[in-house]
Amino acid sequence: MSMPHLRVVPYYRDCHEWTYLELLARHFGREEAERRRRVLAWIHERMPGRERAPLRHVVADRGRVVASMGHLPAEFWILGDRVPIRYTHDLLVDERYRGLPRLGRKLMINALATGARVAGGLWMTDASYRLHVNAGFEPLEPLTTYTLALNPVDFAAQRNLSAAKANAMRWLLTAVRAQSLSRADRVLGRPGCAVHDVDELDPVYDAVWEQFALGYAITRTRDAAYLNWRYAWHPNLEYRFALATAGGSPAGFMVWRSSHDGEKRAVVPDFLVARWDFATFERLLAHVIMQTFAAGSTSLSIMTTQPWAARVLRCFGFYPRGTRNTWVVGNWADRLPRRWIGEHSTWHMVLGDSDGDVWSRA
Ligand SMILES: CC(C)(COP(=O)(O)OP(=O)(O)OC[C@H]1O[C@@H](n2cnc3c(N)ncnc32)[C@H](O)[C@@H]1OP(=O)(O)O)[C@@H](O)C(=O)NCCC(=O)NCCS
Repeated sequence: MSMPHLRVVPYYRDCHEWTYLELLARHFGREEAERRRRVLAWIHERMPGRERAPLRHVVADRGRVVASMGHLPAEFWILGDRVPIRYTHDLLVDERYRGLPRLGRKLMINALATGARVAGGLWMTDASYRLHVNAGFEPLEPLTTYTLALNPVDFAAQRNLSAAKANAMRWLLTAVRAQSLSRADRVLGRPGCAVHDVDELDPVYDAVWEQFALGYAITRTRDAAYLNWRYAWHPNLEYRFALATAGGSPAGFMVWRSSHDGEKRAVVPDFLVARWDFATFERLLAHVIMQTFAAGSTSLSIMTTQPWAARVLRCFGFYPRGTRNTWVVGNWADRLPRRWIGEHSTWHMVLGDSDGDVWSRA
């Protein structure tokens, strides 16, 4: 069953959307497919950069979509240059077409062959990771997510532990949480920048975010248009912005959302402060810890590739999680020497650098 007629083609919404939604419904069920439909509309109708089509490639059999992979356009600062890239995301092959037609592989090879600089998402399944790597994407060292337990009883109950181990874990996590909350309280009580919640970010701060981002060798560009679309206007998830200001000027922001709809974990998908500005990072973090604790989330997770930020996280009682996030890049070699691509501290990467936090139950 080699099925040579199954070719990868660009996605045209008018032509493919209906059968693509059917594929989603078969795979995820109607309710989740409906959430995904809202996410797709938000991408196709509102996302800055959506004119960089195609936003997806598909394989269709007799007019019905049977496999698909999305591309999220973004721009990165790479050593001071603004460079367009695409994230590969949202790979799915109809169950009846898995295996021999090699549709997953065809979509991957197509992603590299179109010549665009690509980065693969952080929450890939094992199969997706292998497909990326076997098709020629470059695997990088996994990224680490840091987690703070805010509800020790719930947190321990999520693990399959003996009664004695669960008890020891609850005791330890209760002590860590007490230290973390009192540290957050102290940090917020110190003189320094002010942190407050805002619904949307004002474009007047864009030049400041650009200046901060340029302090990192490699990071995605961020402006109000992108941040408001991605977080404030999300169709299914409720994010908040914490904005730090010093003397009336912005000093940094942090985006977070509390746990939601059966999820237990709160997440920080993005933050930006000037490199090494651990004081502002600490304040933003202290604010978000207090907010997510008050909202009743079981834990709080955040990712960073910056060693100084990881140190701050450890001081607050965050611990690096056992499972690490695989990620890959393709067609980057013309821009950067290998050792730069592979060195974490040259990047400012966050959980929002993947589609994992776009879908409702990531
Ligand atoms: C992952 C998926 C896209 C593979 O599609 P496919 O068309 O069967 O893939 P191909 O036949 O082209 O390639 C299969 C490769 O994946 C590997 N693979 C397939 N299913 C796997 C699994 N469950 N676990 C580990 N590896 C798997 C195969 O061994 C093969 O590896 P190889 O390239 O070394 O031979 C498909 O199973 C799928 O849609 N899964 C559900 C959605 C999903 O997990 N998407 C990824 C989200 S990050």
